[in-house]
Amino acid sequence: MSDWIEDLFIKHSDLFLKLLDFRWERTKDLVNGMVKVLRGFKIKSGKLLDLCCGNGRVSIHMAEKGFSAVGVDISAAFVESARRRAIEHKASDLAVFLEGDVRRLVEVVGSGFKPFDIVVNVWTSVGYYSKEEDLSIFKQARDLSREGAILFVAETAHSEYLSLAFTPTSYMELEDVVLLENRKYDPVKSHISSSWSFYRKVGKDLRFLDTVKIEQHVYNLNELCTLLSEAGWEAVAIYGSLATLQPRSPLSPLNIVAKAK
Ligand SMILES: C[S@@+](CC[C@H](N)C(=O)[O-])C[C@H]1O[C@@H](n2cnc3c(N)ncnc32)[C@H](O)[C@@H]1O
Repeated sequence: MSDWIEDLFIKHSDLFLKLLDFRWERTKDLVNGMVKVLRGFKIKSGKLLDLCCGNGRVSIHMAEKGFSAVGVDISAAFVESARRRAIEHKASDLAVFLEGDVRRLVEVVGSGFKPFDIVVNVWTSVGYYSKEEDLSIFKQARDLSREGAILFVAETAHSEYLSLAFTPTSYMELEDVVLLENRKYDPVKSHISSSWSFYRKVGKDLRFLDTVKIEQHVYNLNELCTLLSEAGWEAVAIYGSLATLQPRSPLSPLNIVAKAK
């Protein structure tokens, strides 16, 4: 496992969980859009595979729409949180969560759940590993899916955006924690190196908690669609937002809808 993956998602899972939980509310709109897109492909029910599922926000919202879902994540803390939330939302019979590495997806998921009708990879959960490994993840997802299955690579950062609107710093408050991000973007390698520093609010002061370094490849639309095609997924629609189904623009996140070939 890359050092930063372990550092952010496992060692500092309590801090990253705050970011996952922060996105919980907005997931309803994302999932409503996904359901609309799926209806266009005559998919009104079925089995969903959630790659890098985090706290299970997409799987659980999809389960509330009647889909059955299997979420896979490398972080035991996120899987535990997803299972707890599934129980709270009375969705635990439809949403199952597995702790495991998506680079060994077929082994982790086994043969009991396949074939899947829908696969999702949400919030820039790609570009963490080598291109060969990313390709293998989407190939394995294809192997676990039926022909005509739909893949969403949603809410994903892309290099076109970064070349137009790169911001080297940002600041965010997550209840009692403050996150300061410093980023460097290398347009030649299409690579982002970030440094995330977490602080706890103590009265009017900030107490430094820790800094995590993040290394990520950022794809462009063509590169990602080519990779998906090599993995057996043909891009059939691109949106700027799935929540509103607005068209793609260079300044919107990438939302790719692809069909299993
Ligand atoms: C940016 S978060 C996105 C989480 C979720 N998809 C969402 O939209 O809320 C990235 C997730 O990828 C997971 N992850 C990273 N590497 C992984 C791997 N090799 N196998 C499974 N999960 C992984 C992390 O633990 C984290 O939950």
